[in-house]
Amino acid sequence: MNLVFLGPPGAGKGTQANLLAGRVEIPKYATGDILREAVRENSPLGVEAKRYMDRGELVPDEVVLGIVDAALKSPDAERGFILDGFPRNVPQAEALDAYLAQQNRALSAVVYFDVDDEELVRRLARRRVCPDCGAVFSLRAETSEVSDRCDRCGGRLEARVDDKQETVRNRLRVYHENTEPLLAWYKNGSVKLFELDAIGTVEEVHGRLLSAVGCS
Ligand code: AP5
Repeated sequence: MNLVFLGPPGAGKGTQANLLAGRVEIPKYATGDILREAVRENSPLGVEAKRYMDRGELVPDEVVLGIVDAALKSPDAERGFILDGFPRNVPQAEALDAYLAQQNRALSAVVYFDVDDEELVRRLARRRVCPDCGAVFSLRAETSEVSDRCDRCGGRLEARVDDKQETVRNRLRVYHENTEPLLAWYKNGSVKLFELDAIGTVEEVHGRLLSAVGCS
């Protein structure tokens, strides 16, 4: 199972990728998570990436391609993989196809998570993450409350730097300009494309995902 999860910021790609990766025991590679880790470590990659991520811009293709190349070379990826947040524009998608073809591999499917902008803005405003273990939470809609401690490791939850309202607006603009055209690109290609209604509870969306990829 070699999958790409495609969709706007806050669509639930990461949430669903974690659930599916756990269920089918394949690795998930999220370029955003890998870049944030590099930012935390203050590595040269992180210093470069931060300049773009804080503004909600795409990190240059050559940087991201290096990350994906290293991830897909890992022995774990031989069992299959989920790419979450990559590719994000047509040149990245072309590079991925070329890279997989070189290894006599191909994508099994692309899953597109469809959520309207209004709901995305709501989800991102409510998102809290644990900087220690990476767990992702959502403030409860009805009370706007969430414990400030991570259920899993006790870390202090925080909002992501790029979930600020003005940065979210820019991320949505960048998404519509650069990433949304990939939907048409994959529709016209040979890889199976599942367009998932990603509105509903996490469990409901997960059920739809499992049916789409044939795991239910
Ligand atoms: P990245 O980390 O990939 O961010 P993103 O694509 O904008 O996606 P998000 O992580 O914001 O959202 P998600 O869809 O994973 O949603 P989640 O499951 O968390 O990228 C960050 C930055 O890195 C980019 O801006 C760019 O600078 C750089 N970058 C990364 N990849 C790159 C690339 N390929 N090329 C160039 N630059 C790159 O859910 C969101 C919230 O909603 C959570 O609180 C969650 O609990 C909640 N939620 C989930 N599902 C539901 C549901 N069904 N109902 C209600 N709430 C839900």
